[in-house]
Amino acid sequence: MPERTVLITGASGEIGQALIEALSEDHQYRIISLDLKPLPGKLEGKSTHITGNLLDKGLIEQLDKEYSFNQIFHLAAVLSTTAEHNPYQAHKINTCITIDMLEMAVRQSQRGGKPVKFIFPSSIAVYGLPDLETKIDLPPLTENQWTEPKTMYGCSKLYCEKVGTYYSEGYQQLAEEIPVRLDFRAIRFPGIVSAFTVPSGGTSDFGPEMIHAAAQGKHYECFVREDVRIPFMVMPDAVRSLQMLANAPREGLKQRVYNVTSFSFSAADFAAFTKQGFPQAEISFKPDPPRQAIVDSWPADVDDSAARSDWGWEALYDGERACQEYLLKNIKAHYS
Ligand code: SER
Repeated sequence: MPERTVLITGASGEIGQALIEALSEDHQYRIISLDLKPLPGKLEGKSTHITGNLLDKGLIEQLDKEYSFNQIFHLAAVLSTTAEHNPYQAHKINTCITIDMLEMAVRQSQRGGKPVKFIFPSSIAVYGLPDLETKIDLPPLTENQWTEPKTMYGCSKLYCEKVGTYYSEGYQQLAEEIPVRLDFRAIRFPGIVSAFTVPSGGTSDFGPEMIHAAAQGKHYECFVREDVRIPFMVMPDAVRSLQMLANAPREGLKQRVYNVTSFSFSAADFAAFTKQGFPQAEISFKPDPPRQAIVDSWPADVDDSAARSDWGWEALYDGERACQEYLLKNIKAHYS
């Protein structure tokens, strides 16, 4: 019998699909998944899926009535490039929905007399560096440095980090009796690369797009300069980090927001690895100035030592292993 009921929003997205796969191997979870879109057929039977729009408040009320969640992975969001095309709509999706979800989680925590764990994927987009010189000279950034986001996506992620922390530590602080609150935990992800799915609407997408295009024999025109460098990790590490943080004992967590990372790659590094696996790959570089500026404002690397010391985080795939053992092999099999 499953012991824990878990909700995954944004479940049909890249991380959502991989998280359902991982959690469904552990039979202690009853998984409720939700997305605007249905799940792909390969995930059938692994969760109870609800197709619906979280902007429809009735849907959150219905979830609240029907289920008592122990953990919520609130992944639903629009990524940075999409958000820049319609910032107001992105704000509604990335922040208004999050606050409605936090409200539901805190109500459920109070009803159950126990904090619901609210796991939130944040991003390196919360950082904002003023210029390229600053970026090049900086050591890996800790969680509290240069949080000056330049995009609506970054602003909304930073706000949700703060408001999630508030719901855990300040919510109803003036009440006569401090209520049970929720247990908010956030991971700041670098660019994520999956062998099985391609992201859509992100600005770190040049890495995964390049390698997936090569596997399909397609020319790829990269929208950033060869030298631009940001941190990345592969999907198995991203999903492991979510599970590790969700399962970490509360006493050991000295903060609510943690950086995680694995390897720092330039676009040229991605091209070199892609060519190792696909020697015929055709890759050209034609920087798109506005998207280039967004990537230039993100750090070349982040410091994840707090996650390492507080909950034992360690990426299993460095750049070499990510490419050789995970990406190239699986992408080839995926498209063959
Ligand atoms: N992958 C995200 C994006 O590009 C950043 O975390 O929007």
